[in-house]
Amino acid sequence: MSDPKSRNIVWHEGIVSRADREKMAGHKGCTIWMTGLSGSGKSTLAVALEKALIDRGIRTFVLDGDNVRHGLNKDLGFSPEDRNENIRRIGEVAKLFTDAGVINITAFISPYRQDRDRVRALMAEGDFVEAYVDCPLEVCEQRDPKGLYKKARAGQIPEFTGISAPYEAPERAELTLKTGEMSKEETLRTLVEFLERKGYIPA
Ligand code: ADX
Repeated sequence: MSDPKSRNIVWHEGIVSRADREKMAGHKGCTIWMTGLSGSGKSTLAVALEKALIDRGIRTFVLDGDNVRHGLNKDLGFSPEDRNENIRRIGEVAKLFTDAGVINITAFISPYRQDRDRVRALMAEGDFVEAYVDCPLEVCEQRDPKGLYKKARAGQIPEFTGISAPYEAPERAELTLKTGEMSKEETLRTLVEFLERKGYIPA
């Protein structure tokens, strides 16, 4: 990661630690990083998981690609460089949420392995949980919830992931969720059980 542009900046330690926050909340903070093609089910799963956790009194928050591109990242497009910057910024935001003791669920295509690995490297061991939302392109294209694949095939959207831009599948994801085969309920259960088994949330 490049050095800051600014000089004469000194890190200021807080009095409240992350452990204090986690003790207060009764669970750990972490980032569930969902990656997968457009239409694979990342956002649907993210909001379902958020609701399931909130119902159990767990602090959680979703960062979603389409939503973040309406604000913080509205200056970014879909070139490799812009996607790289998109993921870099979200990685930093995800780290802040994690340090705040929140179970932070991100839903970004994040097609480049190197970008995802950079986010992983930002965080402590165990804080970054890569969840590969693994759905075949044909299924995503058939679903086409936003009509974007149709437009991409017609040449109306350049650099569309899976059609005219690459997607690099994870090689060491903590979780693989085959959303083309599993029901939403099954996938959700897999996620919640993972969080319980690994001690992020109480069973
Ligand atoms: S990422 O590649 O930089 O991680 P991100 O998750 O923020 O992408 O945004 C993806 C969403 O933007 C898709 O779900 C889709 O709705 C929309 N989108 C618009 N243009 C493209 C494109 N060229 N490639 C992929 N998604 C696109």
